[in-house]
Amino acid sequence: MRKEKIIVTSALPYANGPIHLGHLAGAYLPADIFVRYKRLRGADIIYICGTDEHGVPITIEAEKKGISPKDIVDKYYKIHKESFEKFGIKFDNFSRTTLKIHYETSQDFFLKLYEKGFLKKKRTKQLYCPKCKRFLADRFVEGICPYCKKKGARGDQCENCGKWLEQTKILEPKCKICLTTPIIKETYHWYIPLGNFQEKIKNWILSKKGWRENVINFCLGWFNEGLEDRAVTRDLEWGVPVPLEEAKGKVLYVWFDAPIGYISSTKEWAIKNGTPDRWKEYWKNPDAKLYHFIGKDNIVFHAIFFPIMLMGYGEFNLPDNVIANEFLNLEGQKISTSRNFAVWLDDYLSKFPPDPLRYALTTILPETRDTDFSWKYFQERNNSELADILGNFINRTLSFVKVNYDGVVPLPGEFNENDREILDRIYTFLDNSGRMIENFEFRKAILEVMNIARLANKYFNDEQPWKTIKGNPERCRTTIYLCLEITRVLALAIYSFMPFSSGKILKMLNLDKWKDKLNWTEFLNEKLRGGHKLGEPFILFKKIEDKDIIPEIKKLEGVLDMSEKKEEKPEPELIDINEFMKVDLRVARVLKAERVPKTDKLLKMEVDDGKGKRQVIAGISEQYSPEDMVGKNIVIVANLKPATIRGIQSNGMLLAAVSDDDLSLITVEKDIPAGSRVR
Ligand code: 2FM
Ligand code: ZN
Repeated sequence: MRKEKIIVTSALPYANGPIHLGHLAGAYLPADIFVRYKRLRGADIIYICGTDEHGVPITIEAEKKGISPKDIVDKYYKIHKESFEKFGIKFDNFSRTTLKIHYETSQDFFLKLYEKGFLKKKRTKQLYCPKCKRFLADRFVEGICPYCKKKGARGDQCENCGKWLEQTKILEPKCKICLTTPIIKETYHWYIPLGNFQEKIKNWILSKKGWRENVINFCLGWFNEGLEDRAVTRDLEWGVPVPLEEAKGKVLYVWFDAPIGYISSTKEWAIKNGTPDRWKEYWKNPDAKLYHFIGKDNIVFHAIFFPIMLMGYGEFNLPDNVIANEFLNLEGQKISTSRNFAVWLDDYLSKFPPDPLRYALTTILPETRDTDFSWKYFQERNNSELADILGNFINRTLSFVKVNYDGVVPLPGEFNENDREILDRIYTFLDNSGRMIENFEFRKAILEVMNIARLANKYFNDEQPWKTIKGNPERCRTTIYLCLEITRVLALAIYSFMPFSSGKILKMLNLDKWKDKLNWTEFLNEKLRGGHKLGEPFILFKKIEDKDIIPEIKKLEGVLDMSEKKEEKPEPELIDINEFMKVDLRVARVLKAERVPKTDKLLKMEVDDGKGKRQVIAGISEQYSPEDMVGKNIVIVANLKPATIRGIQSNGMLLAAVSDDDLSLITVEKDIPAGSRVR
């Protein structure tokens, strides 16, 4: 039989922050389960991902930190790669969109669409920050959404209502970097006329079987509105350069190059394997299947935008399914990266093993609606299911063999009707779970796996081998043999969900030769032999104590408290004038200013305090650039004891008004001499 050929992708994570549980539940864990399962079943399958290293958020973060975008993406590429590996998300290739091969592939895509006449050059009006002297592409601008009227709408899309925005229509726009109100200026860009493809793409989507309702409905919503022209170029420095002479200084829109990252990552994989052309077997072969796993915020790009690019180019396969998940909440609240209200994967892995989280998350994957993760839920699933049911069955079976049969598989007698029925039901659970994975119903699938362990425990209890070992040794040997067979089946059944624990079971069964080489049919055909010596049993799942999760809960509560406390600030204590006068406030003129390297917020300044020069360090670089500061008459506390900040001495503190998310310097209105007392 010909092997099924499949390529699976997970959304390329932005390389500007670590991975949290929401990401895992959305795009990575379900894809990994699917890939592992299909591989068990003998499919020729590759799993492709990489970091998305362009886009405005990365540039903004770099500017805030006073470092280059490259520094940021290098850092997060490494963090992502490592934490995915430790969590058992097993990509065949984890690439990055700053590689040469990606530039070439993206530029080739642009040129092909351009040459085929699919891209229109158009003059357009855009927001331009007169202070930063640049066009405010995408997230460089924030304001009020013209449709839903919510604050925080970005230049390309409103987070709240999900609408793509024409940036000049945003209400009360502000430059994200300097908060200046932008002006409107003319520029030109290349557009892809999505509307021309609407009928074709709509019919294609409607012809699809087995797509999730959320994806279909979302797309129908877009078609109802009518697809419009979308610019695929930007006036930015960080990105893939547009490969046209007349487009000097422009780069490709990040959502144009990012999905092409799936292709360039496959090319990189093929090259690394010494078969540079093999990527085509997955992308240009009508027999191969393409599956994208994403979070719901990415639906339009994977079900409409990228397929249109692929159609326009020609030759490429279109996705066979776009598996989008809804959102995962945390302790009943929305996950928020900016507030640090999240469970970060690298942090989790520094404290707990991967499989309990893989398990707990799988049981609550947001497949059809938003779901909620809590630390208590995680502890419950681990303790009362993994430890008490699955782990318990395996442990009692293997311990029994060790104590009573010297760790050797006993020779069974003939199976009775009950034995056969039990085995039958176990294989049914196993098959069901496989079928459900094929249907992308991972939550249901893992329940079936747990049913195997539940039934196995019941069988052990009902058969009472601790009694039959004395009264009916042959029955006991048969029971225990069957329990060992079920243990073996469990290693296979849990493999896609909990690969590390599957490996441990194989080790305890002394079947290491199957580790990382499991094959469904072959493994099931090979039964355990009486006389086979087992490995040493050990506890598969440790209980998670309250003391392990309480700090995690407290941490999250702390974040919430912080947000609430901001409202209820205590009344300040009264002081008399003498106390106030102890503080020597002086006007100082800023002579020089520079960012302190490798810090988020610090500026180092040299100021004239009226008597001479002094060095002052202040955490203001998110709001003020060094250029902003030079020449300003600021107010400093001149009699503060010197402090050392990040190894640099600061002789004084400048005054500023500080709100929750902003900061404004106190300056003096007139050009009064430096050193003047402020009171
Ligand atoms: O939403 C995101 O995190 C994007 N970086 C996903 C990109 S998916 C693909 F198209 F590359
Ligand atoms: Zn600006």
